[in-house]
Amino acid sequence: MINIGIIGCGRIAQVRHIPEYDKNQDARIYGVYDINEKRAKEVAEKYHAIPYKSYEEMLADSAIDAVSICTANYSHCEISVKALTAGKHVLCEKPMAVTYEECQAMVEAAKKSGKYLMICQQERLLPVHMKAKELLQQGSIGKILSFRTNFRHSGPETWTIDQDKVWFFDKKSAAFGAMADLGIHKADLIHYLLDDTIKSAMAVTGALDKKNPDGTPISVDDNAICIYRTEKGILGTMEVSWTCYGQEDKSTVLYGTQGCLKINSDTKYPLILEKRSGERIYYNMDDYKGHRNGTGMVDTWIQCLKTKTPPEISGESSFESMKAVFAALESAEKGCLISVNNLEEKLDQ
Ligand SMILES: NC(=O)c1ccc[n+]([C@@H]2O[C@H](COP(=O)([O-])OP(=O)(O)OC[C@H]3O[C@@H](n4cnc5c(N)ncnc54)[C@H](O)[C@@H]3O)[C@@H](O)[C@H]2O)c1
Repeated sequence: MINIGIIGCGRIAQVRHIPEYDKNQDARIYGVYDINEKRAKEVAEKYHAIPYKSYEEMLADSAIDAVSICTANYSHCEISVKALTAGKHVLCEKPMAVTYEECQAMVEAAKKSGKYLMICQQERLLPVHMKAKELLQQGSIGKILSFRTNFRHSGPETWTIDQDKVWFFDKKSAAFGAMADLGIHKADLIHYLLDDTIKSAMAVTGALDKKNPDGTPISVDDNAICIYRTEKGILGTMEVSWTCYGQEDKSTVLYGTQGCLKINSDTKYPLILEKRSGERIYYNMDDYKGHRNGTGMVDTWIQCLKTKTPPEISGESSFESMKAVFAALESAEKGCLISVNNLEEKLDQ
């Protein structure tokens, strides 16, 4: 049995991590912690777990094998590094951390400790994305030339557990807005689908609609539009938004020399392959339903721990995706194209 500590007992912990651990036969929710003591106690009672008084107390408990970090973005690095140093395996929510240096520190702490660091980039585990990758690898649309990927929803204020004070809108707690909150999922998805790495970005961001309680615009972006170029020379756009007050848009379309592949572009068919010959193949992903425990994230993580297999959705691979986000944010700030290599060189100086 793998003993799990949950750090941060808010929405994502209660909707995904905890139920997925609860259903996994090899995992036990051993202890929980939240800065909101009442919340931690309630969750602890429900799952017969220990409510720790601090996360340090949890990390000092030798019974804990691994932790899930489900706190606000600003704290991911500090808690991850301390947990890894204390000899715990870490599953950390996205975005991995809030600066380039913090991401580096997490990757180094994992290497030094010999413990696993996995980041919740669950888009890679969605059946529709796995099937799309399989088709792309089979050359179903030939050589990939370009893509467009979107993630638009109505914003985090109706999701977060503390809706009277939305930390997602506060630069100190969140560091980022929609560009990173949603954009990290899409940059990571593009890396996964294309087996490629984003190398430069040009972006515009804006705080267009969301407001603080006093009516002033929020301190992070609620919309971002971005152009990417990958290492292999593929060009693409990414549009992310917290102000889509219609149906959520999570579509991705890949354009190749022999056709295109449409993911979540059609309400009836999650995956459509359009061949250059005119043939259209519709994939219905129902086959995959019923075999999954939630997002599959926790099962994948526990399987890694059980079989002592390093996670594929590692700190290193998530850091590669975060670099695209950092380049896009810097581009939006400076109004010019930013290459990922520039970010790396700047830090080496
Ligand atoms: N993988 C995904 O698709 C996905 C979806 C939603 C949220 N998230 C991420 O999960 C994380 C948590 O988001 P959420 O939606 O659960 O937010 P939330 O506001 O619902 O919950 C956050 C919880 O963390 C607690 N907390 C905050 N800082 C803490 C700290 N330093 N120590 C201990 N507890 C702390 C809060 O009291 C609260 O209970 C964020 O990083 C967010 O980006 C990921």
